[in-house]
Amino acid sequence: MKITKTSAAVGVEIAGIDLRKLSDGDLSGVKQALAEHGVVFFRDQHLAPEEQLAFAEQMGEINVNRFFKSVEGHPQIAEVLKEPEQRANIGGGWHTDHSYDLEPAMGSMLYALEVPPTGGDTLFASMAAAYDALSDGFKKTIAGLSAVHSSRHVFGEQAVYSQGVSGRIGNAEAATQDAVHPVVIAHPVTARPLLYVNPGFTVKIDGWSRAESKALLDFLYAHASRPEFQMRFQWKPGSMAMWDNRATWHFALNDYHGHRRYLHRITLEGGPLAAAHAAA
Ligand code: SIN
Repeated sequence: MKITKTSAAVGVEIAGIDLRKLSDGDLSGVKQALAEHGVVFFRDQHLAPEEQLAFAEQMGEINVNRFFKSVEGHPQIAEVLKEPEQRANIGGGWHTDHSYDLEPAMGSMLYALEVPPTGGDTLFASMAAAYDALSDGFKKTIAGLSAVHSSRHVFGEQAVYSQGVSGRIGNAEAATQDAVHPVVIAHPVTARPLLYVNPGFTVKIDGWSRAESKALLDFLYAHASRPEFQMRFQWKPGSMAMWDNRATWHFALNDYHGHRRYLHRITLEGGPLAAAHAAA
Protein backbone atom coordinates (compact mmCIF):
# COMPACT_ATOMS: atom_id res chain seq x y z
CA MET A 1 0.00 0.00 0.00
CA LYS A 2 1.38 3.41 -1.02
CA ILE A 3 0.39 6.59 0.82
CA THR A 4 0.83 10.00 -0.85
CA LYS A 5 -0.12 13.35 0.67
CA THR A 6 -2.75 15.28 -1.31
CA SER A 7 -1.85 18.69 0.17
CA ALA A 8 0.36 20.12 2.90
CA ALA A 9 -2.48 20.32 5.43
CA VAL A 10 -4.98 17.57 4.75
CA GLY A 11 -5.55 14.24 3.06
CA VAL A 12 -3.67 11.28 1.65
CA GLU A 13 -4.30 9.06 -1.34
CA ILE A 14 -3.82 5.36 -0.62
CA ALA A 15 -2.92 3.27 -3.66
CA GLY A 16 -2.29 -0.43 -4.10
CA ILE A 17 -5.22 -1.82 -2.13
CA ASP A 18 -8.57 -3.34 -3.00
CA LEU A 19 -11.16 -2.36 -0.39
CA ARG A 20 -13.00 -5.66 -0.97
CA LYS A 21 -10.12 -7.68 0.45
CA LEU A 22 -8.10 -5.81 3.01
CA SER A 23 -5.47 -7.52 5.11
CA ASP A 24 -5.38 -6.70 8.85
CA GLY A 25 -2.21 -4.69 8.21
CA ASP A 26 -3.87 -2.65 5.44
CA LEU A 27 -6.91 -1.99 7.62
CA SER A 28 -4.84 -0.64 10.50
CA GLY A 29 -2.80 1.43 8.00
CA VAL A 30 -6.02 2.97 6.64
CA LYS A 31 -7.30 3.74 10.16
CA GLN A 32 -4.01 5.33 11.14
CA ALA A 33 -3.86 7.42 7.94
CA LEU A 34 -7.41 8.65 8.53
CA ALA A 35 -6.65 9.69 12.13
CA GLU A 36 -3.42 11.45 11.09
CA HIS A 37 -4.50 13.15 7.85
CA GLY A 38 -8.25 13.77 8.26
CA VAL A 39 -9.29 12.30 4.91
CA VAL A 40 -8.14 9.34 2.82
CA PHE A 41 -8.83 8.74 -0.86
CA PHE A 42 -8.86 5.58 -2.94
CA ARG A 43 -9.12 5.26 -6.72
CA ASP A 44 -10.40 2.56 -9.08
CA GLN A 45 -12.45 0.62 -6.54
CA HIS A 46 -15.28 -1.66 -7.65
CA LEU A 47 -17.74 -1.74 -4.78
CA ALA A 48 -21.23 -3.18 -4.89
CA PRO A 49 -23.36 -1.83 -1.99
CA GLU A 50 -22.74 -5.04 0.01
CA GLU A 51 -18.98 -4.63 -0.48
CA GLN A 52 -18.99 -0.99 0.62
CA LEU A 53 -20.99 -2.07 3.68
CA ALA A 54 -18.50 -4.84 4.44
CA PHE A 55 -15.63 -2.32 4.30
CA ALA A 56 -17.58 0.12 6.51
CA GLU A 57 -18.20 -2.59 9.10
CA GLN A 58 -14.44 -3.18 9.27
CA MET A 59 -13.95 0.54 10.00
CA GLY A 60 -16.57 0.82 12.74
CA GLU A 61 -20.25 0.83 13.61
CA ILE A 62 -22.58 2.25 10.96
CA ASN A 63 -24.74 5.29 11.67
CA VAL A 64 -27.99 5.52 9.71
CA ASN A 65 -28.53 9.17 8.80
CA ARG A 66 -32.12 10.13 9.54
CA PHE A 67 -32.39 12.81 6.84
CA PHE A 68 -30.97 11.25 3.66
CA LYS A 69 -32.88 9.13 1.17
CA SER A 70 -31.28 5.70 1.19
CA VAL A 71 -30.37 3.23 -1.52
CA GLU A 72 -33.20 0.79 -2.25
CA GLY A 73 -32.76 -2.26 0.00
CA HIS A 74 -29.82 -0.70 1.89
CA PRO A 75 -31.02 1.70 4.61
CA GLN A 76 -27.42 2.15 5.84
CA ILE A 77 -26.33 3.69 2.51
CA ALA A 78 -27.40 7.28 1.80
CA GLU A 79 -27.76 8.54 -1.74
CA VAL A 80 -25.83 11.69 -2.58
CA LEU A 81 -27.50 12.56 -5.85
CA LYS A 82 -28.01 15.46 -8.20
CA GLU A 83 -29.94 14.91 -11.44
CA PRO A 84 -29.27 16.96 -14.59
CA GLU A 85 -32.45 19.01 -14.10
CA GLN A 86 -31.88 19.73 -10.38
CA ARG A 87 -30.20 22.96 -9.26
CA ALA A 88 -29.47 22.44 -5.56
CA ASN A 89 -26.83 19.96 -4.48
CA ILE A 90 -26.26 18.16 -1.20
CA GLY A 91 -23.51 19.56 1.01
CA GLY A 92 -22.87 22.70 -1.05
CA GLY A 93 -21.29 24.78 1.72
CA TRP A 94 -18.57 24.28 4.33
CA HIS A 95 -19.80 21.92 7.04
CA THR A 96 -18.92 18.96 9.19
CA ASP A 97 -21.54 16.23 9.25
CA HIS A 98 -23.54 15.47 12.38
CA SER A 99 -22.10 18.17 14.67
CA TYR A 100 -25.74 18.67 15.76
CA ASP A 101 -25.68 15.22 17.40
CA LEU A 102 -24.74 14.69 21.05
CA GLU A 103 -22.18 12.12 19.90
CA PRO A 104 -21.30 13.23 16.35
CA ALA A 105 -20.58 10.61 13.73
CA MET A 106 -16.88 9.84 13.40
CA GLY A 107 -16.87 10.17 9.63
CA SER A 108 -18.26 9.13 6.30
CA MET A 109 -17.15 7.17 3.27
CA LEU A 110 -18.40 8.43 -0.07
CA TYR A 111 -18.11 6.23 -3.14
CA ALA A 112 -18.59 7.66 -6.65
CA LEU A 113 -20.74 5.84 -9.18
CA GLU A 114 -21.47 8.62 -11.70
CA VAL A 115 -19.68 11.96 -11.97
CA PRO A 116 -20.03 14.93 -14.33
CA PRO A 117 -17.48 15.31 -17.15
CA THR A 118 -16.00 18.29 -15.30
CA GLY A 119 -16.83 19.87 -11.93
CA GLY A 120 -18.49 18.32 -8.90
CA ASP A 121 -15.22 18.30 -6.93
CA THR A 122 -15.22 18.24 -3.14
CA LEU A 123 -13.11 20.57 -1.00
CA PHE A 124 -11.74 19.45 2.36
CA ALA A 125 -10.19 21.66 5.04
CA SER A 126 -8.07 20.68 8.04
CA MET A 127 -9.34 21.92 11.38
CA ALA A 128 -6.07 20.81 12.97
CA ALA A 129 -4.03 23.08 10.68
CA ALA A 130 -6.56 25.90 11.16
CA TYR A 131 -6.26 25.61 14.95
CA ASP A 132 -2.45 25.39 14.89
CA ALA A 133 -2.22 28.63 12.88
CA LEU A 134 -4.03 30.71 15.52
CA SER A 135 -1.90 32.79 17.88
CA ASP A 136 -1.25 31.49 21.41
CA GLY A 137 -3.24 34.42 22.82
CA PHE A 138 -6.27 33.63 20.66
CA LYS A 139 -6.03 29.92 21.49
CA LYS A 140 -6.26 30.84 25.19
CA THR A 141 -9.28 33.09 24.50
CA ILE A 142 -11.30 30.30 22.86
CA ALA A 143 -10.03 27.48 25.09
CA GLY A 144 -12.91 27.41 27.56
CA LEU A 145 -15.72 28.06 25.07
CA SER A 146 -18.43 25.73 23.85
CA ALA A 147 -20.74 26.17 20.86
CA VAL A 148 -24.33 25.20 20.14
CA HIS A 149 -24.93 23.14 16.99
CA SER A 150 -28.33 22.45 15.42
CA SER A 151 -29.96 20.55 12.56
CA ARG A 152 -33.18 22.63 12.58
CA HIS A 153 -32.14 25.47 10.25
CA VAL A 154 -30.74 22.96 7.71
CA PHE A 155 -33.02 19.91 7.73
CA GLY A 156 -36.17 21.34 9.39
CA GLU A 157 -39.44 21.99 7.54
CA GLN A 158 -38.86 25.74 7.18
CA ALA A 159 -35.24 25.40 6.07
CA VAL A 160 -34.42 26.75 2.61
CA TYR A 161 -31.80 24.02 2.15
CA SER A 162 -34.17 21.12 2.82
CA GLN A 163 -36.73 22.64 0.44
CA GLY A 164 -34.09 22.88 -2.31
CA VAL A 165 -33.11 19.22 -1.99
CA SER A 166 -36.58 17.83 -1.19
CA GLY A 167 -37.02 14.25 -2.36
CA ARG A 168 -33.34 13.61 -1.58
CA ILE A 169 -33.40 14.88 2.02
CA GLY A 170 -36.49 14.34 4.18
CA ASN A 171 -37.77 13.47 7.65
CA ALA A 172 -37.87 17.16 8.61
CA GLU A 173 -39.73 16.36 11.84
CA ALA A 174 -36.53 14.66 13.09
CA ALA A 175 -34.65 17.98 12.90
CA THR A 176 -34.99 18.66 16.61
CA GLN A 177 -31.50 17.87 17.75
CA ASP A 178 -29.26 20.53 19.26
CA ALA A 179 -25.95 19.79 20.91
CA VAL A 180 -23.23 21.71 22.74
CA HIS A 181 -19.58 20.84 22.07
CA PRO A 182 -16.26 22.47 23.01
CA VAL A 183 -14.98 24.97 20.42
CA VAL A 184 -11.61 23.22 20.56
CA ILE A 185 -11.75 19.44 20.89
CA ALA A 186 -9.03 16.85 21.29
CA HIS A 187 -8.93 14.30 18.49
CA PRO A 188 -10.14 11.06 20.10
CA VAL A 189 -7.24 9.04 18.60
CA THR A 190 -4.30 11.45 18.24
CA ALA A 191 -5.28 14.01 20.96
CA ARG A 192 -4.39 16.77 18.47
CA PRO A 193 -6.38 19.98 19.14
CA LEU A 194 -9.03 20.69 16.50
CA LEU A 195 -11.25 23.68 15.84
CA TYR A 196 -14.78 22.30 16.15
CA VAL A 197 -17.21 24.90 14.81
CA ASN A 198 -18.59 24.93 11.27
CA PRO A 199 -20.68 27.27 9.10
CA GLY A 200 -23.28 24.57 8.36
CA PHE A 201 -24.49 23.60 11.79
CA THR A 202 -22.94 25.84 14.49
CA VAL A 203 -25.50 28.43 15.57
CA LYS A 204 -23.87 30.28 18.46
CA ILE A 205 -21.30 30.28 21.22
CA ASP A 206 -22.88 28.84 24.34
CA GLY A 207 -23.86 31.64 26.75
CA TRP A 208 -23.16 34.43 24.22
CA SER A 209 -25.66 36.57 22.27
CA ARG A 210 -26.16 35.92 18.54
CA ALA A 211 -24.33 39.17 17.69
CA GLU A 212 -21.35 38.34 19.91
CA SER A 213 -21.27 34.80 18.54
CA LYS A 214 -21.43 36.02 14.95
CA ALA A 215 -18.37 38.24 15.42
CA LEU A 216 -16.26 35.36 16.71
CA LEU A 217 -17.62 32.69 14.37
CA ASP A 218 -17.23 34.93 11.29
CA PHE A 219 -13.57 35.39 12.18
CA LEU A 220 -13.04 31.66 12.77
CA TYR A 221 -14.80 30.72 9.51
CA ALA A 222 -12.76 33.21 7.47
CA HIS A 223 -9.59 31.90 9.11
CA ALA A 224 -10.41 28.17 8.79
CA SER A 225 -11.39 28.47 5.13
CA ARG A 226 -7.99 29.87 4.10
CA PRO A 227 -6.69 28.02 1.02
CA GLU A 228 -3.56 26.69 2.73
CA PHE A 229 -5.69 24.49 5.01
CA GLN A 230 -7.59 22.99 2.05
CA MET A 231 -7.38 20.46 -0.74
CA ARG A 232 -9.66 19.70 -3.66
CA PHE A 233 -10.64 16.20 -4.71
CA GLN A 234 -11.60 15.44 -8.32
CA TRP A 235 -13.90 12.46 -8.51
CA LYS A 236 -13.87 9.65 -11.03
CA PRO A 237 -16.21 6.65 -11.05
CA GLY A 238 -14.76 4.20 -8.52
CA SER A 239 -13.20 6.93 -6.33
CA MET A 240 -13.78 6.73 -2.60
CA ALA A 241 -13.21 9.48 -0.02
CA MET A 242 -13.37 8.72 3.67
CA TRP A 243 -13.18 11.67 6.06
CA ASP A 244 -13.00 12.28 9.79
CA ASN A 245 -15.74 14.70 10.82
CA ARG A 246 -13.91 15.75 13.97
CA ALA A 247 -10.85 16.92 12.06
CA THR A 248 -12.17 18.33 8.77
CA TRP A 249 -14.78 20.41 7.00
CA HIS A 250 -15.98 19.54 3.50
CA PHE A 251 -17.78 21.41 0.69
CA ALA A 252 -19.37 19.79 -2.38
CA LEU A 253 -19.00 22.18 -5.35
CA ASN A 254 -22.16 22.76 -7.40
CA ASP A 255 -20.69 23.71 -10.78
CA TYR A 256 -22.04 20.96 -13.06
CA HIS A 257 -25.70 21.80 -13.79
CA GLY A 258 -27.11 19.62 -16.58
CA HIS A 259 -25.13 16.55 -15.53
CA ARG A 260 -25.80 13.69 -13.13
CA ARG A 261 -23.64 13.09 -10.05
CA TYR A 262 -24.40 10.00 -7.96
CA LEU A 263 -22.51 8.66 -4.94
CA HIS A 264 -23.16 6.23 -2.09
CA ARG A 265 -22.40 7.46 1.43
CA ILE A 266 -22.02 5.38 4.57
CA THR A 267 -21.55 7.14 7.89
CA LEU A 268 -19.68 5.73 10.87
CA GLU A 269 -20.65 6.22 14.50
CA GLY A 270 -18.53 8.44 16.72
CA GLY A 271 -18.57 9.19 20.41
CA PRO A 272 -18.61 12.06 22.88
CA LEU A 273 -16.14 14.89 22.25
CA ALA A 274 -13.74 16.19 24.87
CA ALA A 275 -12.21 19.65 25.09
CA ALA A 276 -8.55 20.07 24.24
CA HIS A 277 -6.53 21.93 26.80
CA ALA A 278 -4.68 24.95 25.44
CA ALA A 279 -0.94 25.02 25.98
CA ALA A 280 -0.08 27.32 28.92
C1 SIN B 1 -21.64 15.55 1.71
O1 SIN B 1 -21.63 16.68 2.21
O2 SIN B 1 -21.73 14.53 2.39
C2 SIN B 1 -21.56 15.41 0.21
C3 SIN B 1 -20.17 15.58 -0.28
C4 SIN B 1 -20.07 15.46 -1.78
O3 SIN B 1 -21.08 15.17 -2.44
O4 SIN B 1 -18.99 15.63 -2.32
